[in-house]
Amino acid sequence: MYPTNRAGRSTARPPQEAPRRKRIKAKVGLAEKPQVVEIEVPDQELPVWDLDAKLAVVGKRVPRIEGAEKVTGQAKYALDYTPRDLPGLLYGKILRSSFAHARVEKIDASKAQALPGVKAVILFDKGQGFDPSAILEVMSDGPTSTPPDRVVIFEGEEIAAVAAESEQLAEDALRLIEVKFRRLPHVVDHEEARQPNAPLVHRGTQSNVVAGEGQTRGDIEKGFKEAEVVIERTLRVPVLLHNSPECHVAVAKWEGKKLTVWASTQGVNGFRDDLSKTFKMDKADVRVITQHMGGGFGSKFGMQSFGAIATALAQKAGAPVKLAYDRHEENLAAGNRPDATMWVRLGAKKDGTLTALHCRSYGTAGFGRDASVTPMMAIVYKCPNIRLEDSDVYTHAGQGMPMRAPGFPQGSFAIESVMDELAAELKMDPLELRRKNFVDQPLLALDKMYALGAEKIGWSHRNELGPKTNSPIKRGLGMGTAVWPNYCGPPAVCRVTISADGSVEAAMAVQDIGTGTRTVVAMVAAEELGVPVESVKVNIGDTSLELIAPDSGGSVTALSISPAVRAAAADAKQQLFKKVAPALKAQPGELLCEGGKIFARGKPAKSLTWQQATARLGATPIAGRGERLPNVEAYSLPLWGAQFAEVEVDTETGQVRVLRMVAVHEAGRALNPAMFESQVYGGVMMGVGYALLERRTMDKPEGRVINPNLEDYKMISSEELPEIETVIVEPITPMNNIGGKGLGEPPTVPTAAAIANAVAHALGMRIYELPLSPDRILDALEARKEA
Ligand code: MOS
Repeated sequence: MYPTNRAGRSTARPPQEAPRRKRIKAKVGLAEKPQVVEIEVPDQELPVWDLDAKLAVVGKRVPRIEGAEKVTGQAKYALDYTPRDLPGLLYGKILRSSFAHARVEKIDASKAQALPGVKAVILFDKGQGFDPSAILEVMSDGPTSTPPDRVVIFEGEEIAAVAAESEQLAEDALRLIEVKFRRLPHVVDHEEARQPNAPLVHRGTQSNVVAGEGQTRGDIEKGFKEAEVVIERTLRVPVLLHNSPECHVAVAKWEGKKLTVWASTQGVNGFRDDLSKTFKMDKADVRVITQHMGGGFGSKFGMQSFGAIATALAQKAGAPVKLAYDRHEENLAAGNRPDATMWVRLGAKKDGTLTALHCRSYGTAGFGRDASVTPMMAIVYKCPNIRLEDSDVYTHAGQGMPMRAPGFPQGSFAIESVMDELAAELKMDPLELRRKNFVDQPLLALDKMYALGAEKIGWSHRNELGPKTNSPIKRGLGMGTAVWPNYCGPPAVCRVTISADGSVEAAMAVQDIGTGTRTVVAMVAAEELGVPVESVKVNIGDTSLELIAPDSGGSVTALSISPAVRAAAADAKQQLFKKVAPALKAQPGELLCEGGKIFARGKPAKSLTWQQATARLGATPIAGRGERLPNVEAYSLPLWGAQFAEVEVDTETGQVRVLRMVAVHEAGRALNPAMFESQVYGGVMMGVGYALLERRTMDKPEGRVINPNLEDYKMISSEELPEIETVIVEPITPMNNIGGKGLGEPPTVPTAAAIANAVAHALGMRIYELPLSPDRILDALEARKEA
């Protein structure tokens, strides 16, 4: 699971008086199968935009409001800051360990310090491993440290940092720093790291293995006794590298005791909180700004090393510092998706009803934690008896971090592979087996998603494909189910301002990480106010707004903030109605604003235009405020989907081509179908890469990453990209006043599993390890011939 304290599900909520509550009705679910439900909500909650809501903006393909700015290069990313923006800007660089495990016996940076143009040198000469949150305690001013008390525990770990007048100078300075290492034994493979005599990664531990809490339900022994068929398999997935288009970058600037950081981050608020703790400052003195950013996928929560080091260098140099990782650093030290070895045992009745699921998994998040893969298995299918056991194995490698649906694509590959083998054993259609076991949840539209996906991929012709064909090129179909828990919720606060010139501003300290958040804010405000989307100016990405919003992770952003935006717009609108009601000879409560006109309900003939109405505001703008109220608990349910793959496998070359992916998804109400599709394309693309191409490869004797670049680490390109058909299913939810849920992660959950199932169908034989690279396919075909 992604870090619970980092995506806005704040653990510390202010104590609240019991709010007064009311019961309201909403017509929800699918348009063709509407259901009227009664829900209890706080008194001030707005009616749900349900199936009867007439919406003018929400639900339309509104282009991203910052699109033109981006394609013309005007949108400013943290990386774009230059001395023209920040006079005196210096460039930071980090000296990193080239060994996986070593004692640092000497650091001498005096030559670097003496180089003209070098403005700051700091040494990290204390501690076992570098902890950015303790940077003030573990760093020294340099230039020399003899003897240092320092051990590095992965290739790429920070040892020293410099700030200089140019990037080239900073690099030159790094080369002048003399470091003497004494190598220590390392282990970078999770199988080897589990062995009792393996070198330990963390001092003071007895073993590299840390068992997770695990999860049980029902009685697993009883479940397997009841089973008539049992499938038991071990499956493996590799470490992946995030490779966001934009690497980690922070630009730090001090003014007296005040600090401003422009950062590529998924959460300006979490970043600021970390900075204020680390540098022992009042939050109000720290400002974090992220106007645009080029992806994070889970690797950019919090201050991390780049934020801490940029800030420390700027403090020491007395000048602003930009610290931008290059691709190599990014891929050694800025996060990765943990690998896993997953042993799965699944039991079922002859009719396909699951009776028991047992999974034992271990994997490595490098020197960090959370390689768990089983939370997905706990929720994707109904199974009364489960035991799920995850262990983390420490290795001398860069720290794993959440990566788009952390743990779920891994778990999906394991459970969906075993489900397909179970179906084969039972001589059942794999899709039927899923239908037999899907969970009971109100408003679940999974049956419709399965049916649409099956129809569009041509599932009914599945039996005509497979290994029997004469051609060396075999075709297959496969599928998998997408699921991700709902984490949307409070806190989120928005302010909507209406001025006398008719302009509207919606403000909140949320960031747009490339997903279209800015556009969502504008659309929701425009919808509630009854004005065109172009008339809403959006002000986000800056903690100094002091309007709290979640960090963007866990698919929470759009549906955590939208209800707050709507509430703020509704508040502003009511204030405007109060001002103009006398002119319309009506009560404020009778007024509506639609299509840019304000009039009393049923009396559209007598109206004021938006401009006429706002002109009455005078010098003081109206400021509406809205907050995100809690979810209606009974409907705080997962995000679902189903994906279907059609593949072609060349049995002579081992090459897999994904011909087509049909991705059927839901997010409750689809706020903007174009942005919905965009999320799905991205998720599926990443999933195809996971299935066929990507893996971080380690040189085990040297303890180093062999492919921390984009030449040797193969990401998907247009060459391998299948045709992707997105199908939107829209079961409106009464969970919040918008009727929607999140979407960011589900589209990447089942992709690799669906492809693996299609490949197994094509070949009549399964490969239990990702990626499904030509070497693996050919080896497996060879082994079958010999058998
Ligand atoms: Mo996501 S892995 O919570 O950015």
